[in-house]
Amino acid sequence: MSDEVHIIEMGPRDGLQNEKTPISVEARIAFVEALVAAGLHTVEVGAFVSPKAIPQMAGSDAVLRGVSHVTEAEFHVLVPNEKGYDAARAAGAKVVSVFAAASEGFSRANINCSIAESIERFKPVLARAKADGVRVRGYISCVLGCPFDGEIKPKAVAELAKTLWDLGCYEVSLGDTIGVGTPTKAKDMLRAVTANLPAAHLAMHFHDTYGQALANLYAGMEEGVRIIDSAAGGLGGCPYAPGATGNVATEDVVYMLEGMGIRTGVDMDRLLAATNEISRLLGRPPVSRVASALNAK
Ligand code: HMG
Ligand code: MG
Repeated sequence: MSDEVHIIEMGPRDGLQNEKTPISVEARIAFVEALVAAGLHTVEVGAFVSPKAIPQMAGSDAVLRGVSHVTEAEFHVLVPNEKGYDAARAAGAKVVSVFAAASEGFSRANINCSIAESIERFKPVLARAKADGVRVRGYISCVLGCPFDGEIKPKAVAELAKTLWDLGCYEVSLGDTIGVGTPTKAKDMLRAVTANLPAAHLAMHFHDTYGQALANLYAGMEEGVRIIDSAAGGLGGCPYAPGATGNVATEDVVYMLEGMGIRTGVDMDRLLAATNEISRLLGRPPVSRVASALNAK
C-alpha cells in the first residue's frame, strides 16, 4: 500500500447538517479553523441547499466568507442546482460538490427529483463551473444500500460514477449513506467502479451506522482508493436517511492509518481539541472510539 492518504473533512457540513442543537456561524468558522490547524487541508464547510430542507446549513455563505483568510486549505460546499451554484459563487466558492444517488428512492427523498433529472440539473452547473474555473466534485449516495430501495447493484453505481466523470467531475465520492456495507460488498462495488474510472479519482464516504466503516475503508484501500471522507468525532448523518448515524470518525481513520505507517498529515491532539470543542457545543461526547479512549487517558 502507498504511504499517504488524503482525508476530506466533513465535520462542518455532513457533521452538523442533522444536529438538533443550532451551532452559530461564528462557532462553525472556529470549528473549520481548528480542523485546518490540525492538518486537515480539505474541508467541506457548508451547503447551498434549501434552508427549509436543512436549516442547519443556513449561513453557509457567511461560513465560507469567514474562512476565506485561511489560505492553506481548500474549502468545499454542496450545491444541488444552479441556484445553489449562484449563491456559492457569490460567497467565493472555488470547489463545489453536486450530489446524486444510486437509488431512485433516495434521490427523490433527498433532492426531490429522479436520478436522470438530477443529472440534467447538474449539467448547467458543470458547464458554468468549467467556464468559471471552478472544480466540481460528484457524490453518489447509497452505493452499498438504500433505506427505501434496499440492495443496490454495483453496476448502477459504476454507471452513475461514469456519468459524473464524463460530465467533468474531477473526483467521485462514493457514499455508504446508511452504513450498511461490509468489506466484500465494498470491494465488489469498487471493482465495478474502477472498471469505469481511475481509483485515483475516487473517494470513500462511509457512514459508520453498523460499525463497518473502518473495515470497509481498508477493503477499499486494497482496491487502490486513497481518498477518504470522514468527520471529526464521528459527527454526521443525513435527515433523509432514516436511522443513519455519523460519518466514520476522522480520529478513528487517522489512528488506523498512522498505525499502519500511512501518513495523513493530521495532528491527533489538535484534532481531538477541535472535536471536544464542537462536542461541548453540541452537549454530548464524541462517538469516535479513539476520541473516547484518548479523552479517558
Ligand atoms: P425542490 O423543491 O425540488 O426545488 O428542492 P425547487 O426548485 O422546486 O424549489 C423549492 C424551494 O427551494 C424554493 O423556495 C426555492 O427557492 C428553494 P420557496 O419558493 O419554496 O421559498 N431552493 C433553494 N434554496 C436555497 N438554495 C438552493 C435552492 N434550490 C431551491 N440551492 C432541493 C430541491 C435540492 C433544493 C431541496 O430538495 C433541498 O435543498 N434538499 C436538501 C438536500 C440536502 O442538503 N441533503 C443533505 C445533503 S446530501 C448528503 O448528506 C449525502 C452525502 O453526505 C453523501 C452520503 O452520505 O451519501 C453528500
Ligand atoms: Mg454523508
